[in-house]
Amino acid sequence: MTTENREQIAHATELLADARQIVVLTGAGVSAESGVPTFRGERGLWRSYRPEELATPEAFQRDPALVWAWYQWRRGLIAQCAPNPGHHALARLALQRDGVTLVTQNVDGLHHRAAREEASRLGSAGPEPAFPLEVHGAIHRDRCSGCSRLTEAIPGDDPGPPGCATCAAQLRPDVVWFGEALDPDVIGAAQQAALGADVCLVAGTSALVYPAAGLPELTLQAGGTVVEVNLDATPLTARATVSLHGPSGELLPLILGA
Ligand code: OAD
Repeated sequence: MTTENREQIAHATELLADARQIVVLTGAGVSAESGVPTFRGERGLWRSYRPEELATPEAFQRDPALVWAWYQWRRGLIAQCAPNPGHHALARLALQRDGVTLVTQNVDGLHHRAAREEASRLGSAGPEPAFPLEVHGAIHRDRCSGCSRLTEAIPGDDPGPPGCATCAAQLRPDVVWFGEALDPDVIGAAQQAALGADVCLVAGTSALVYPAAGLPELTLQAGGTVVEVNLDATPLTARATVSLHGPSGELLPLILGA
């Protein structure tokens, strides 16, 4: 590691240690080292698949079996992945400090799994940690496209979406598709946290998809600072006080002292 990197890491650590309120925004990059494919970039999902054929309400109407099969494939893949040291460092931060709000665009549930593992390691007897705010939903849940009832998804190779046990309408993954609105309560809570944060720690996101990408902007507008962790530069990099380039599974434990 270069001296400059060490200084940048120390600066990030200091900003986070001094912050009273921290909001963390994560994207697909934090799960890349766990083996979950990202969306953009050389090996991203959107290189091989077209979002409009798989991740829109129109696509589901046109060909529910195709969309269902793609999500079942992703569910199978995610089921074989485990949280990495980046997820664990963030889980410890949120469990051990007050004033931390973790917001993720990821639907893979790995932050939750890391939180459960850390909570049991720390011996906390309380209920399951109620984070992160999953602004794009959760792939391990199904939602009825008729009555909106939520159920735990059952992995398998069924030929198409099963019917809801209550109203018989088709089940769909409980994720946000292109052209759909985010849950106003969830994104609203994330925006409040971003506005009140002294530091917004942004990790592993291309910072391109709004409204999630607007969260660091809210922190900046309110006078806070941004610390970014990413393999590459993003549209946010120029406005970050500290921008660390490298794998989040290595950098997050370093800056969080975990
Ligand atoms: P992207 O795939 O757009 O971006 C992933 C980012 O992570 C890129 O900036 C990479 O440089 C960075 N990255 C990759 N590996 C990394 C690593 N090991 N450590 C640190 N950074 C790494 O993913 P998102 O920004 O999450 O939306 O995408 C945003 C949304 O677009 C997703 O939630 C999804 C997608 O369409 C919906 O499904 C609604």
